[in-house]
Amino acid sequence: MPKYRIAWLPGDGVGNDVMEAARMVLDSLRLDAEYIHGDIGWEFWKNEGNALPDRTLDMMKTTTCALFGAITSKPKGEAAKEIIPELQEKGYEYFSPIVRLRQEFDLHTNLRPCKAFPGNPLNFKEGIDLVIFRENTEGMYGGVEFHPIPGPVFDVLEAHHPKMKKFRKYGLDNLALSTRIMSRQKCDNIVRRAFEYAEKFNRKSVTVVDKPNVLRETGGLMIRTAREVAKNYPHIPMYETNIDAQCMWLLKNPFDYDVLVAENMFGDILSDLAAQLIGGLGFASSANIGDKYAVFEPTHGSAPKYAGQYKVNPMAMLLTVKLMLDWLMEINMAERLEKAIAKVIRDGKVKTYDMGGNSTSLDVAEEVVRHL
Ligand code: IPM
Ligand code: MG
Repeated sequence: MPKYRIAWLPGDGVGNDVMEAARMVLDSLRLDAEYIHGDIGWEFWKNEGNALPDRTLDMMKTTTCALFGAITSKPKGEAAKEIIPELQEKGYEYFSPIVRLRQEFDLHTNLRPCKAFPGNPLNFKEGIDLVIFRENTEGMYGGVEFHPIPGPVFDVLEAHHPKMKKFRKYGLDNLALSTRIMSRQKCDNIVRRAFEYAEKFNRKSVTVVDKPNVLRETGGLMIRTAREVAKNYPHIPMYETNIDAQCMWLLKNPFDYDVLVAENMFGDILSDLAAQLIGGLGFASSANIGDKYAVFEPTHGSAPKYAGQYKVNPMAMLLTVKLMLDWLMEINMAERLEKAIAKVIRDGKVKTYDMGGNSTSLDVAEEVVRHL
């Protein structure tokens, strides 16, 4: 029996292209694993009304962890139109399968390293090295939303909050409501993970990013909780910033920051910005980590127009494989892989279109394999 069972979830669009690149590297490293394919993505939404079928969840429960390619997500109306006629108007609702996976498996910690590899022509500046910890299960993406707002929900909010009343005049049908529910436990967890990481890897600071001057209750809870956690790490400075200013400062002074931690939506925004500083989404890896299970996925989307063309940069996926190897405690393999990736980037000979080259995703993977 192989040591690991890995759920293999290519998903949509270029997910498949980059997963093939991943497999070349994993095979060359001889990771002692079997890979079990799982259905996930747009095709299953269209044909079954569920982008994340139960059989996939059941299969995943028998595995060590999962590697995931990319997903196509569309807003409600567009998603509803694409479902097959037999399933139309049957009450199926599209929900992003990656967001659902994070919630189903309680993958509370989204780790997104953003490191400028030396010599990458796409680096905003050489030497940038940021790590984002994004809360992954609640906050603005917790999924508790309404449109229209049901009468009893409106009534209760109106009874308990003076600012609600003024919205009634628009009519409940014309009102949409998204919630930002945050727990002290999850705020504590994500900040703690950020500090643990900073300590383990000798990073110079932790910056907690929110907007407590406006989002007084949720943002306030995050900051107050973070201050409590920080007391356990008196040797690591903690900075508190607002998301808007932080976006500007990340561009202006990227070297002032190190580990950044934020709630779900703010972490989503920060991580795309940080990705662009180190060469774009083609270099941005991510790990969704829970207490016992983890799903690894590059930060990029499914880029449908490039699907099957092996055009996109597989580095994000290969760096994601590195995160998976770290999590599996295959530290030696993880280091070999990162070194090979760094060498290929530094050499600059084999590169995809985003880096000004014309190599395919698989050429790049092959070149990484050659340097392992
Ligand atoms: C990400 C993506 C997803 C998210 C989308 C595809 C639902 O943007 O992983 O950052 O918002 O979490
Ligand atoms: Mg995102």
